[in-house]
Amino acid sequence: MEVLESLYEMINRGIQDGKDDFHTMIFSNIQNNKVESRCVIVREFNKEKKTLFFNTDVRSPKVEAIKKNPETHCLLYHFKDKIQLRLSTYSSVHQDDEVHNTAWKKTSISSRKCYLTKYSPSQFIESSDDGIPDHLIAKIPTLKESEFGKANFAVILNQIISIDWLYLSSKGHRRARYDLSNDEIKKSWMAP
Ligand SMILES: Cc1cc2nc3c(=O)[nH]c(=O)nc-3n(C[C@H](O)[C@H](O)[C@H](O)COP(=O)(O)O)c2cc1C
Repeated sequence: MEVLESLYEMINRGIQDGKDDFHTMIFSNIQNNKVESRCVIVREFNKEKKTLFFNTDVRSPKVEAIKKNPETHCLLYHFKDKIQLRLSTYSSVHQDDEVHNTAWKKTSISSRKCYLTKYSPSQFIESSDDGIPDHLIAKIPTLKESEFGKANFAVILNQIISIDWLYLSSKGHRRARYDLSNDEIKKSWMAP
């Protein structure tokens, strides 16, 4: 399971390093019978539980959609290391619980500012605006002000069901699938 261990390390490296390609991923889900994808920041990874987390605004349409259909997908591509990861995931929304509280404590005050907007993500609006209160334009909120964002903050937990690993190399491409749905991980080679 050398490959699996190395890709777990890569995921952790991406979380720590904001400049790493694995700091962000493309998260896809089904909404109104259509696939929707967007870029999100990978916040945490639990190697034992095989869970990957990102934060979001609870007012985002994807939150209700995930509750209706938890079958989701995460895509990561590491340009330098030439590795693509396609993760089949099963997602759940966390608010007002331990996962939510722990993640909120870890957020910086500046990133809490996004959760102070008066708008719901993806809402249509009259003119170009981010909905942040006027007195906070180009300013960082105080700790007290930032706490109002907690009500709009949610954590998406993504349980990894399988990993499709693709390594592109001039010496030969390699691809493997890891089935994580049981306690015993099953590895199968695939044609790249
Ligand atoms: C670099 C980058 C990082 C982003 N990180 C997040 C994130 O962690 N969580 C999130 O909900 N949206 C994030 N977004 C915004 C989403 O891509 C998307 O625009 C937003 O979630 C609204 O769409 P939706 O609610 O319909 O998914 C990020 C966008 C970019 C470009």
